[in-house]
Amino acid sequence: MAALFEPKRIIVTGGAGFIGSNFVHWVVDNQPDVHVTVLDKLTYAGKLENLEGIPAKRMAFVKGDICDAELVDKLFADADAVVHFAAESHNDNSIANPEPFLRTNVQGTFTLLEAARKHDIRFHHISTDEVYGDLALDDPARFTEETPYHPSSPYSSTKASSDLLVRAWCRTYGVRATISNCSNNYGPRQHIEKFIPRQITNIISGIRPKLYGDGKNVRDWIHTEDHSSAVWTILTKGEIGQTYLIGADGERGNIDVLREILAQMGKQPDDFDWVRDRPGHDRRYAIDPTKLRTELGWAPKHTDFGEGLRETIEWYKENTAWWEAEKAETEAKYAKSGQ
Ligand code: NAD
Ligand code: DAU
Repeated sequence: MAALFEPKRIIVTGGAGFIGSNFVHWVVDNQPDVHVTVLDKLTYAGKLENLEGIPAKRMAFVKGDICDAELVDKLFADADAVVHFAAESHNDNSIANPEPFLRTNVQGTFTLLEAARKHDIRFHHISTDEVYGDLALDDPARFTEETPYHPSSPYSSTKASSDLLVRAWCRTYGVRATISNCSNNYGPRQHIEKFIPRQITNIISGIRPKLYGDGKNVRDWIHTEDHSSAVWTILTKGEIGQTYLIGADGERGNIDVLREILAQMGKQPDDFDWVRDRPGHDRRYAIDPTKLRTELGWAPKHTDFGEGLRETIEWYKENTAWWEAEKAETEAKYAKSGQ
């Protein structure tokens, strides 16, 4: 394990989105000596209200674009570290219109790396298991840090590109960087375009849930709070130049997740529609988190998926004002692609 890195002033890009905002709350709740500056453009996926309740002395919010080199330069001059979550994050959107993914995920990461290089600040890059492509349903293998990159979608190929930029800036320019590749997150404040919140909010709205293809695709679910604690562990204890896979042994078939949501919300197992499959749909993701667990001593807290799902369903029931205004538009977008 590397010597403990103890940042006092961190920048969190994408801190008004789903995982970024959960991370900011986690840092404020668990690291009393750390000040956070959130840099977020507030795209359709970012909401300032995601950061409500955080005391002004613990956090500053800057509305801005990670591609804005002048702004990034100014912010990095006064920070110890950046944790880079900002991205276009949804596969279906990347299939409909890849351009914003190239801009934010590739050009944006490049802009941040150049500023980190200039100001010599620590860089933690948030990435995804999707860079490794997919596994067959009957393959016992899981992704490790050594698995070759093989991305399938416009989204995952831009995330893979950004990972490679981080590796190159680390090796060539000595940027003090680490990378984490995490599996599918669930929990509060996830945009309703994503699988779990889409189905929950469909049921609340009287719309039938929608399952792509044959429903057998497997995702490896982790609660977003466990992602936060893993990122903090890597930022403070990880070794420069290293990649760490984050996962919580949460493999489940999409149809099984949907049937659990239906059961918990008082519906019948077949109360859903089969819809058109996603083009290029990855079959299965699975993370082997041995390196993170053994080298850095991290472990997840949310090991009961049914319980995590119950709390997530409650959150969407109790916070209808958070999502209701976007529901019709989100479903209209899916209807256009037959999904
Ligand atoms: P999200 O779409 O909910 O949030 C993205 C945030 O980034 C939003 O607040 C948005 O306003 C901001 N943003 C987008 N473009 C920006 C720009 N150009 N400048 C500044 N801010 C910008 O995404 P998420 O699901 O929270 O994912 C966050 C990160 O985690 C992404 O890098 C994603 O690739 C990665 N990741 C996500 C998952 C998952 O299951 N959702 C799993 C592994 C890794
Ligand atoms: O694996 C990590 C990735 O997980 C992250 O990098 C991405 O940012 C994040 O969006 C997520 O990608 P997925 O494509 O796996 O997530 P999504 O929620 O879009 O879909 C999960 C699975 O559910 C996938 O197999 C497609 C399927 N699906 C999705 C929707 C929206 C459905 O069957 N019906 C749906 O309505």
